[in-house]
Amino acid sequence: MRLLDHKNAVVTGSNRGIGRAIVEVFAKQGATVFACARTKNTEFEADMHGLEEQYGCEIIPVYFDLCDSEGLKEGVKKIRGRKLSIDILVNNAGILSEYKSFMMMPIGNVRKLFDVDFFAQMEFTQLIGRMMQKNKGGSIVYISSIASMDAFFSSYDYVACKAAINAAMKQQARELGKSKIRVNAVAPGIVRTDMIEHSDQDHLDSILPAIMLQRFGTKEEIANAVLFLASDLASYITGQVLRVDGGTNPPRANW
Ligand SMILES: NC(=O)c1ccc[n+]([C@@H]2O[C@H](COP(=O)([O-])OP(=O)(O)OC[C@H]3O[C@@H](n4cnc5c(N)ncnc54)[C@H](OP(=O)(O)O)[C@@H]3O)[C@@H](O)[C@H]2O)c1
Repeated sequence: MRLLDHKNAVVTGSNRGIGRAIVEVFAKQGATVFACARTKNTEFEADMHGLEEQYGCEIIPVYFDLCDSEGLKEGVKKIRGRKLSIDILVNNAGILSEYKSFMMMPIGNVRKLFDVDFFAQMEFTQLIGRMMQKNKGGSIVYISSIASMDAFFSSYDYVACKAAINAAMKQQARELGKSKIRVNAVAPGIVRTDMIEHSDQDHLDSILPAIMLQRFGTKEEIANAVLFLASDLASYITGQVLRVDGGTNPPRANW
């Protein structure tokens, strides 16, 4: 018996980075996965097909841009069309804006980041959450960031947005608990994905001494924490932010 046998999951940002690792760990544990990506792409479909063959599960690609409300609704319609109950939602997709100080940050940049990293996720969660309410249960996991607590390594828009995710998550956990829906967040530390590819590498390395384990995390380590919260192993955990950061110690870090 695998941890996610007979479970159906929806994961956003499935085509690369942490989202791709979450899809793989879910597939390995037997879930049927609706793998959401922004653009239809044969390379992505071949990759998902490879995972299906490797782990003997079903992966259904679904395409929409999170910021296109109509497209997002079409995506949900496609998911609903499969007539499967949805047990797990992982709100993973997101962007990081180019670093700017608070005083130099154009407000338009902040709105753009909130559109992707907050508003679209709320809209998507409402739609998938309604499906979970009908099934009388589910687990929702947001991918937050330790930036939300430590004002860490990024501009204030990202810090504020991820803090808003944590707060929204907690309120949703309170509201949806009576429908047996658990809502939690994983807050990763630094993980080398495309998202931080353009960051100043010297600055990145200067953070290492502030991490108790003296290294950055891997996508798989974040995915394993998401798996735990998504699965029945975490059946009495809701409204929590789980830091997965190797023991990153803000007071020692130079950011
Ligand atoms: N990497 C880190 O150090 C780190 C640390 C803390 C938290 N996080 C969080 O972890 C999550 C995943 O990050 P990552 O490092 O894996 O980033 P990534 O490699 O840059 O991947 C981002 C994913 O989000 C998707 N996405 C972005 N905008 C979208 C939109 N408008 N509609 C649909 N999909 C969209 C991207 O799709 P495309 O390929 O189409 O662009 C991609 O699949 C994010 O929420 C991020 O904030 C990351």
